[in-house]
Amino acid sequence: MKDFFSALLMVSIAFGMFTGPALAAQDGPITKQQQQKMINVAHRGASGHAPENTMPAFQKGVEMKADYIEIDVQMTKDGKLVIIHDATVNRTTNGTGAVKDLTLEELKQLDAGSWFSEKYAGEKIPTFEEVLDAFRGKTGILIELKLPERYPGIEEKVAEALIERNMHKPGNKKIVIQSFNHESIDKSKKLLPLLPHGVLLGDEWADVTDEQLAEFAAYADYFNPTLSIVTPELVDRVHAAGMKIYPYTSRSQEQAYELFSLDVDGIITDYPEHVYDHPGKKTIVNNTLDLL
Ligand code: G3P
Ligand code: CA
Repeated sequence: MKDFFSALLMVSIAFGMFTGPALAAQDGPITKQQQQKMINVAHRGASGHAPENTMPAFQKGVEMKADYIEIDVQMTKDGKLVIIHDATVNRTTNGTGAVKDLTLEELKQLDAGSWFSEKYAGEKIPTFEEVLDAFRGKTGILIELKLPERYPGIEEKVAEALIERNMHKPGNKKIVIQSFNHESIDKSKKLLPLLPHGVLLGDEWADVTDEQLAEFAAYADYFNPTLSIVTPELVDRVHAAGMKIYPYTSRSQEQAYELFSLDVDGIITDYPEHVYDHPGKKTIVNNTLDLL
């Protein structure tokens, strides 16, 4: 037994000598500490691996240990909330037509998986409630109100579904509501004042002023821009305004590295493995992520 402890001590000393210098000269740009701090958002689910905005994509995001799944909420002709990105079903199903012109029953007939791979043939468009019930407590949910200007009353319906499930309470850090439509977010924040909200920003916001940031901060907790406009200065100014910043959409390892170096708070990505450890992907070597 004494020999065992001596051996253990030797290994510990050797490991300490090994890890020390490696921390000073990292093999890669991401340390384990940086990785653990970074919020990992699976965009439309882990949409690099399964058809976007479907249950398998969300499940994959959970399996890959993403902190959040991101979902796009729209409304059917008969007023039901559904999860789909485009204004029409044309790209991601075998049907045609605008989401707002189809009933839930009609949408549920469609195949939302085959376009991605035959493996997912027959996958259905999920409802908002189905996603809440399946994933609450298992992962965070970043809810995007998609094209809310097309769907009068969508903010109230989203709020109702969350309140019914008691998912609107203080301290609930795992539900965030965001949109490119900032008026809609202002409205939603008034309906759900205890939940964090975010504004989404495209390229046209590259020159956002401090005054505009302050206006956003009056109702938003997150400033989530397209990754192409993110600079170290922007990150600092967003933080100074009291908001967090989760850029979208990282689709390569290089983009994820770049966002790590910009010191953002979270990364919205189709590939959670670029941000996080998961079985079979990366190894932590010398306390540094070996992602290459
Ligand atoms: O969460 C940010 C991102 O989803 C915004 O863009 O077009 O993928 O909904 P989009
Ligand atoms: Ca989205």
